[in-house]
This record gives sequence, structure tokens and C-alpha cells, in this order.
Amino acid sequence: MDTIQLQIKDLSGFLSEDDILKQSAVATACNQALHSGSRKGSDFLGWVSLPSTLTSHALREIEDTAANLRSGCEAIVIVGIGGSYLGARAVIDALTSPFDRLQTGTARKSPVILYAGNNISEDCLCELMHYLDGKSFGIINISKSGTTTEPAIAFRLLKNQLEKSAGKDEAKKRIVAVTDASKGALRTLADTEGYKTFVIPDNVGGRYSVLTPVGLLPIAAAGIDIRTLVAGAAEIEKAAGPAVSFDYNLPAIYAVIRNELYKRGKKIEILVNYHPKLHFLSEWWKQLFGESEGKDGVGIFPAAVDFTTDLHSMGQWIQEGERTIFETVMTVGEANGKALIPHDEMNLDGLNYLEGKRISEVNRMAELGTRIAHVDGGVPNLAIAIPRLNEKYIGQLIYFFEKACGISGYLLGINPFNQPGVEAYKKNMFALLEKPGYEKATQALKARL
Ligand code: PA5
Repeated sequence: MDTIQLQIKDLSGFLSEDDILKQSAVATACNQALHSGSRKGSDFLGWVSLPSTLTSHALREIEDTAANLRSGCEAIVIVGIGGSYLGARAVIDALTSPFDRLQTGTARKSPVILYAGNNISEDCLCELMHYLDGKSFGIINISKSGTTTEPAIAFRLLKNQLEKSAGKDEAKKRIVAVTDASKGALRTLADTEGYKTFVIPDNVGGRYSVLTPVGLLPIAAAGIDIRTLVAGAAEIEKAAGPAVSFDYNLPAIYAVIRNELYKRGKKIEILVNYHPKLHFLSEWWKQLFGESEGKDGVGIFPAAVDFTTDLHSMGQWIQEGERTIFETVMTVGEANGKALIPHDEMNLDGLNYLEGKRISEVNRMAELGTRIAHVDGGVPNLAIAIPRLNEKYIGQLIYFFEKACGISGYLLGINPFNQPGVEAYKKNMFALLEKPGYEKATQALKARL
């Protein structure tokens, strides 16, 4: 089948094929539990069958809403944080040109896609609002709980700006809310104002929600073909099903490898890309694995680097620092663009030996050279081969990582679908902001400042 592949030959010396195969039965049982709902977190398994069950009608509604926003807006602001932000940005950055936004008039293919509500920086919000001043813009406001502080604050400011610039009636047409079917402040607000809304299924958690309207609406608004993305995901859903033998089940193999390395002292996994367009795919992956596995005092720390950029900063640490790391490289086959290194008469930069070569070939040699150097330096390496950056393979990659994360969490013995730890900072922040109901905590925390 025409899919992403797992390359494991650079693990030899760290982990044998036998070490991996010994875990096949237990990994298969973990995979089956994701389908039967027989283990922890079974209320949040809606993502497992999402790609194959999304209807054409549901996709059409997303596409139509995206088309409306695209036709009426110079800019679209995606408001959301964590699982309500990273998946959309990962796909949009991977599949669109960052320079399109610099084009003007008909040369620009899409409205400028902007992000807000993923931090509480006053400067960032001021700069965004300054940019939006005088422009026709729309807002996609995404929050499953509908009560998250960061996006709620950003939305309040942006809604106010849009209503003032476009008028209340027009603003309503340019705001779409993606939230719970019945609960939360955003649901109440959207129903009261009469915004177009999309529902986030109850049984899909934030970090597994990229293939719901949470991700698909912004992705479609950026002009990306969501049907091919979902079809790609559905291919891996099938190829990693509960009856598929471990030997062919790529997410299960990846989950076993990372857990076996973890047992052998490799506490940090570094996801590597050689294309800055994949930077946010790594950010999404960090959240997926970090929030799913980091609990009960265990869990691989998920880190990420952009090579070759970070070879000039983090490369030293990876080559010679503490040997507690392993690398997973997202290796891309064919570049979509084509640029050859030209001849230069004077050759003062000494680069004529590369004349006629594609940039991707130079990048590839940097990648292969780095991989060998890191393996020689004691860093186990595995790679996920992605034939090229397009909707289909990114869809495959998303489901691959989601499935691997579910299996990996079960292998680790934790619940990969909750995130109790993220509440701690929120409680303190609310207390320090003197939110009603937090009076006691306010006093206690202020005494500690
Ligand atoms: O994965 C998660 O559950 C979190 O990252 C949430 O997505 C994030 O906190 C945003 O939550 P909400 O969509 O409720 O605003």
C-alpha cells in the first residue's frame, strides 16, 4: 500500500528485532483495547473510528462554512489553545506556503490565517488587533470546554473589534464557534448570538480532535483538501485495525519501540524534521504524547528539533550530551518544489561541486550524515518515511501518531486520555486573579508570593 513507512534498521545495537517481537502480544492486546473500550479512558475513544465514519454530509458542511469565510474575509483568526489549536496549525503549516500571506490581490490564494488565544501576551494581542484594523476578518472560535481562559479573553477582544468595524449583524456572519453540543460558556454565547456552530463529540479529547471540526474547519478555511486528509487517515485506521498482525501494524511497532527504549533508560524522545514546515506537526505531537503519557510519575519526555537549523544549536547536546535520548526522524521523500544549485563562474563560495544538484538532495545527505553520526554517538534512531508533504500522507501521519499514542499509553499502564495535571496552574491563576469562589486559595497563595 502507498503509505508512510517505519524504518528501524538504525536501532540495531540498541534494540534487537527480538526485543520488539517479544512485545507483540501485549501490544496487540493494547490495540484491541482501544477498539473494545476495555481499558482506562474508554469514554474518550471516539477518535479511533473517526476517519472511516465521517460522512460526506458532515465534510460538506465544513467545506461550505469554510468557503463562506474564505469568500468574505481577508483574514481568518483561529482562536484556541492546546488540542483546540495545534492540530489545525500543524496541518496548515505543513501544506501551505508561509509566503502566500505576503501576496496581495489575486496573487494571494487564501485569506491570511492567524492564531490567537494560545497565550496571554498583551503585546501579541495588540499587534494582532493592529494588523486586523481596517481589514475584513472572520473568527473561528474553538473550545471544547467552552471555558478556557486564554481563548475566552482573546475572543472577547476580537469579537468587540469585529462588531465595531463590521457591525453586529455582519460580525455574526463572520464568527463560527466549535464547541460542546450543550455545555460551556461558548455554547451559551454562540446560541445567544446566533453564530454558526460545529459540535466537538463528547468522546473525543482535545489532543485527539484534529479530524473533527476542531481541526477540519480551520484546515478547510486555509484552502486544504480535507477529504484527502481524512481519506489518508482512514487508510492507516484500516492498516492498524484490531485484527492486523503486529508485524504489519506500524503504530503498534512504533509504540513498542519507544517503550522498550524507555525501559532501557532512554527517557527523552526527540522528534526530528528536516523541513521547517513540519515544526508545528512536532508541536502537535509533543502535546499528544506529553499530555497523554506524562502522569503517575512516568512518561517519555517528548522534545522536538528542526534540522538542519537546530544542528547549529542543539546538535552538540544530541551528539555528546547525556545518553538518555533517542530520535524519531520524520523523513520526507520528494520535495514538492524544485530548485537546482546554479553554476557560478567565480565559485568564491566553493559550491560548484554541488552544481546542478537539487536542494533536497543536499538536505538528504545532511539527514543521512546526521543519522549515522548520532547512531555512532549512542543515540538510537528510527524514522518515519513520508513520501512527500501532501494531504494524504499528513492524514496518515496524524492517525499513525494518535494510534501509537493510545497503544503506547496502555503499554505504560497509564490512562492516555486524561490530563489531571493541567488543572494545577489554572487553580492558582484563578485564585491570584481573585475569581469568585477561590477566596481561601487567594489568601494562601498571596501569602506565598
Ligand atoms: O488536549 C486537551 O484536552 C487540551 O489541550 C485542551 O485541548 C486545551 O486545554 C483547550 O481546551 P478547550 O478546547 O476546552 O478550550
